[in-house]
Amino acid sequence: MTTYIEAARLKRERAVAGGDVTLLAIETSCDETAAAVVRNGRETLSNVVFSQIPLHEAYGGVVPEIASRSHVEKIGPVVEQALTQSGVNELSGVAVTYGPGLVGALLVGISFAKAFAFARKLPLVAVNHIAGHIAANDLAEPPEKPYVCLVASGGHSHLALIGEGGARVIARTLDDAAGEALDKFARALGLPYPGGPNLERLAGEGNDTVKLPKASGKGIGNDLSFSGLKTAALTILKKQEAAGEVNRADLACSFQKAVVDALCGAALSGAKECGVRNIALAGGVAANKLLRAQLSAMAKSEGMRFYCPELRYCTDNAAMIGAAGYERFIAGDLADLSLNAKAVLPL
Ligand code: KG4
Ligand code: ZN
Repeated sequence: MTTYIEAARLKRERAVAGGDVTLLAIETSCDETAAAVVRNGRETLSNVVFSQIPLHEAYGGVVPEIASRSHVEKIGPVVEQALTQSGVNELSGVAVTYGPGLVGALLVGISFAKAFAFARKLPLVAVNHIAGHIAANDLAEPPEKPYVCLVASGGHSHLALIGEGGARVIARTLDDAAGEALDKFARALGLPYPGGPNLERLAGEGNDTVKLPKASGKGIGNDLSFSGLKTAALTILKKQEAAGEVNRADLACSFQKAVVDALCGAALSGAKECGVRNIALAGGVAANKLLRAQLSAMAKSEGMRFYCPELRYCTDNAAMIGAAGYERFIAGDLADLSLNAKAVLPL
């Protein structure tokens, strides 16, 4: 009798030989229950995202227990919808995020993916969430390698060098992630969760008039540090509140500008140091219009090519997991049914 893993390997070989790899991808690492069907790591046939934002809004941030429960409720319908919308009858395999993220949330996607793969004797690939964010760029015109990718999300701020041999982290935040800093300051300004997009909206009504420290300092190379900037901004806000003269829009605009300046500075100097001519953006904060425009302009002024995923592929989604999963699938890097969640997982 053929075991599951033998059947899965055989199916993978056939799909690769046939040149048509269609993956069901699942993402549940935080507060989005997402499923997608992606062909050959490039073509999104369906992309369904159920956002839990309304469930966490009252708490000002993600409550892990509520996230896990909601994933359990939604994973079945979300996968079903993704399969129906794709119109695909035969899948080549399943890709699932296994870390980094909230363990309880990850486990829902992983358990579902394992059961689905086992029942249909489909190969399973395990995807790193950050690699997924980077691979979101492949859903448009894939960046020319080597390239430097700035991954800025709620949990991560990384600068990675991506070459033919894989990805290597070349700089990171030393404390808060960019999205985390935006979310925390937005909360202090009384804006609802998630802070980033709401702060962007408020920033549009203000001007960059508040003097703030740089979010990258001397002696940390291309690494980033947002906690000093955040504390300075919070102190100014408290002073303005005490004086009864709060200018929330100017504070939002200046804070956003300081975060974007730091991210762009690190990305550009990282790319120059690595001697690469291509720069890409990824992660939830990559949805920020100022960041997209400023990094694009800076890259172009240096004669570099700039790549950025569509807005819907910046924040958490499963299509990006399908794109990253395709690489693992082609490499023959299959997971077995002992796959487990990893809260911490380096790139
Ligand atoms: O990638 P993502 O959906 O989840 C993580 O992997 O963390 O990123 C979420 C983060 C949050 O911090 C959110 O505030 C931020 O991305 N974000 C934005 C924007 N849209 C989402 N930050 C700034 N401007 C936006 N438009
Ligand atoms: Zn993410």
